[in-house]
Amino acid sequence: MERPEIKTPLPGPKAQEILKEHRRYISHSYPKGPELVFDRAEGVWVWDVDGNKFLDMLAGVAVNSTGHLHPEVVGEIQKVLKRFLHVSTDFYHELEVRLAKKLAEIFPREGDNQMVFFTNSGTESTEASLKLARWHTKRQYFIAFEGSFHGRTFGSLSVTSSKTVHRARFSPLVPGVFFVPYPNAYRPPFNAPPERASDELIDYIEHVLFDRIVPPEEVAAFIVEPIQGEGGYVVPLPDFFPKLRALADKYGILLISDEVQAGLGRTGKWFGIEHWDTVPDIVGVAKGIASGLPMGAMIAKAEIMDWPQGAHANTFGGNPVAAAAALKTLDLIERELMENARIVGEYFLKLLKELQAKYEEMGDVRGKGLMIGIEFVKDRESKEPYPEFRDRVVYELFKRGVITLGCGPTSLRFSPPLIVQREHVEVAVELLDEALKATREELSR
Ligand SMILES: Cc1ncc(COP(=O)(O)O)c(C=O)c1O
Repeated sequence: MERPEIKTPLPGPKAQEILKEHRRYISHSYPKGPELVFDRAEGVWVWDVDGNKFLDMLAGVAVNSTGHLHPEVVGEIQKVLKRFLHVSTDFYHELEVRLAKKLAEIFPREGDNQMVFFTNSGTESTEASLKLARWHTKRQYFIAFEGSFHGRTFGSLSVTSSKTVHRARFSPLVPGVFFVPYPNAYRPPFNAPPERASDELIDYIEHVLFDRIVPPEEVAAFIVEPIQGEGGYVVPLPDFFPKLRALADKYGILLISDEVQAGLGRTGKWFGIEHWDTVPDIVGVAKGIASGLPMGAMIAKAEIMDWPQGAHANTFGGNPVAAAAALKTLDLIERELMENARIVGEYFLKLLKELQAKYEEMGDVRGKGLMIGIEFVKDRESKEPYPEFRDRVVYELFKRGVITLGCGPTSLRFSPPLIVQREHVEVAVELLDEALKATREELSR
C-alpha cells in the first residue's frame, strides 16, 4: 500500500530557507497550518521541497477537488492555452456559456431556469449574492448565523462570525446584519433538546427578532452554510433547513446557500443543502469548481437575477482557462467523483466512529461525503472544548505525513480530493490513531 514517506525533520532544510523568506516578504495576516513547502503534487500525494511525501487529506481546503493535476483537467487547460488566456467580460466566449448552462442545470430545483454570475473567489460569490438579494428585494437587512464564514471582503465579513480576529479593527462593516445561532446538531441552540431545537430557533427568529428588532418585510435574505466550514465542520439539525425555507417564504425573504466549501459534489450531492431537501434562491460556489484555478460563481433563480446591465460586473469573471478547467471538473464529478465522495466518505466516517470508541477526546465525529470533522472535547459529558489537543493532533499527523487542518474552536477537518480511495482513508485513520496516542502522551506530561 502506498504510504507517506518522511525522510527529514519537518520542516526540512530547504523548506526552512523558503519559510524564512516567506516570513520576510509575505503578509503575516494569512492563517497558517503546518510548515509544509510544496514542491509538486499529483493525485492525492504531495512532495515537499526536501523530498518528503504526504497524503493530502485537505485538498487545499476543498479546492483540488479532482486531485492534483488530474490529466483530463490539465488536458482541457492546455487546449485553451493555445487559443487565449483572457477574454474581457465586455465580450463573449463559448466556454463560460457552457459552464453557466451546466451550473444552471445542477442548481437544486427542477429545470434550468437559473442564471449565473461568475466570480474569482468565494468572498466575491458572497458579495454578489448579498448585492443581488438587496437589488431584487429592495430590502436592506440580512440574517446570518453565528459561527459562519462567508469571506473577508467588507460585505462578506459583515455576515461572517466565526472568529473575532477576522473582524477586529475593520469596523464599521456593512450595516444591517443580524446574527442568530447556527442549528448546530452537536451543541443545539438554547441548550434545547435536539428534537425541539430547530423549532425554538425558528420561534426566536420569528417572535424575538421579527417582533421586536427587525421588521421581516425589510429583510432581504438569510445567508447560511449548509454545513459550517471554517466554523468547525458543523452539521445542522436535520429538520432545520425545511423550516427555515418555510419561514423565508412566509415573509418573502430570500435564502442564500453559501456552498463555497460544501458544494459541487463534496458531500455526495451537488449541493450540501440538498441533503435536507431544501431549494435555495441563490447559491455561492468557488473553491473546488475548477480543480484549483481561481474561479467562483453565484447561481440564482432567473426570476431573481433581474438586475440591469452595469449593476454588477468584474474583470476576470468566467475566465476561459478557469472555465475549461471547471467544465472538465464538473464532468468528472458527475461521472464518478460525487458517487466516490459518498461511498468513500461513508467508509471514512465509519472508521472514524470506530476510532472514537477508543478516544474520549473525540467528542463528535460528523460530516457528509468527504466533508468530515472531528470535534475534540475534554470529556464527552461536559463537551468542554479542547483546542490544545486538536492543534497537537494536526501537528502529529503532519509529522506522520498526513495533511489536515483545524477548523472552528476545537475541530479537525478532512476535505480530501474527491478521488481519494478506501486504501488512502485506511492509511489516514491508522496514522490518526498513532497521532491521537502521541497527543495524549504529550499533553499528559
Ligand atoms: C463557506 C465559505 N464561503 C466563503 C469563503 C471565502 O472564500 P475565498 O477565500 O475564496 O474568498 C470560504 C472560504 O473558506 C468558505 O468556506
